[in-house]
Amino acid sequence: MRHAGDRYAGCTLSHVTVLTESYEMFARAERVIPGGIFGTRSPRFSSFGDFPAFIRSARGSRITDVDGNEYIDFMCGFGPIVLGYNHLAVQEAVRGQEERGGSFTFPGDVTLELAETLVARWDWGDWVMFGKNGSDVTTLSTRIARAHTGRMKLLVAAGAYHGFDPWSVPGGQGVPPAHRSERDEFTWNDAGSVHACFDRNEGDVAAVMLCPIRHDAMHDIELPAAEFLAAVQQRAEAAGALLIVDDIRCGFRLHPSGASHLRFGLRPDLVCFGKAIGNGQPLSLLVGKEALRATAQSLYYTGTHFFAATPMAAALAVLRAYDGEGAYEAMQSAGAMLRDGILAAARRAGACVRFTGPATMPNLLFDDDPKLKRGRAFAAAAAQRGVIFHPRHNWFLSSAHTPEDIAQAVAVAEECFRLVVAGT
Ligand SMILES: Cc1ncc(COP(=O)(O)O)c(C=O)c1O
Repeated sequence: MRHAGDRYAGCTLSHVTVLTESYEMFARAERVIPGGIFGTRSPRFSSFGDFPAFIRSARGSRITDVDGNEYIDFMCGFGPIVLGYNHLAVQEAVRGQEERGGSFTFPGDVTLELAETLVARWDWGDWVMFGKNGSDVTTLSTRIARAHTGRMKLLVAAGAYHGFDPWSVPGGQGVPPAHRSERDEFTWNDAGSVHACFDRNEGDVAAVMLCPIRHDAMHDIELPAAEFLAAVQQRAEAAGALLIVDDIRCGFRLHPSGASHLRFGLRPDLVCFGKAIGNGQPLSLLVGKEALRATAQSLYYTGTHFFAATPMAAALAVLRAYDGEGAYEAMQSAGAMLRDGILAAARRAGACVRFTGPATMPNLLFDDDPKLKRGRAFAAAAAQRGVIFHPRHNWFLSSAHTPEDIAQAVAVAEECFRLVVAGT
């Protein structure tokens, strides 16, 4: 049995959860999967012993772990769950497609319906290609840029995450240095550094890739300064390089059309979407301009599951529900309520925190907490009280977060802020 709360003075254990089954399963998993759970889904990435390891079911804003504990989840599957878990209309579309067949020798008819729907939705894009994970399409976009310009250099913001393929993956173990030598970095929100980066690589730049906001883990979220975006846009255009927006994480959370660059007035050549478009079904998109169609067509790009019909049927249902149910507005208002509540709770408890980012993708960090000691203690105590707040990664709102969920989560946050303040 594991308790987080008993580490902190003044904590009552009355509503502390038990994670016996989760961690027994984790121990079993370690025998058959390297690390038990690899990557960011591991409780080692959040708060080992305090976060559940395995989830049995989910509905709306809530997930239920294998011990039967229910949590209000502010991670939304690390982004994809934009309408809430197990959304009725999306699930109906999934079941309907599965009855007809989910994967065929040739593309399902929904492929065309989805492509036409997307191209009609966004007047800045003329075509779409599909993948499964975000990395499929961020990497595809770099190949199109390189093939189109005949140049190799990719410019990215230092610390930005664009996927796990060799050109981008953090750490770079197992990646030949040559895969990384054709990229250079600039500093987010520093127009001077953008100019310097383009100057250093004059004549070589294939593309600059940018997320709409800075959402690096363990970092305050930063919105882009107008001067910075202007430098990126103008230098890319002047260099004949492509501007690629990586909207994998922000897509459908920063702008009612789904495309975050419209909020910031950018004019990209290629935009990558993933996560939210399927509300949990695996699908990613690359949307591009007419001028790149021939290059996109000329590349070898395929994957066994890229044409799977079920995620496409799901995406059509996601778009209908997102527009029809006012999902964007619902997320905004839930997020605003959470932000106001968290900040007021922290003030009342005397916790010194920074709550940054847009309402639908906030990030909480404690002051003077470089090793996330307080952040982890806070997230652990919240998990033990039935709320998933991540200690190092931005959170996500969905349209299924109700005012009651937010009120409950804020009450838990206040109790946890007090525990952290008492324990430091
Ligand atoms: C901004 C951004 N780009 C790319 C990716 C890669 O997406 P995936 O993990 O689906 O390959 C992610 C994943 O979190 C992301 O946040």
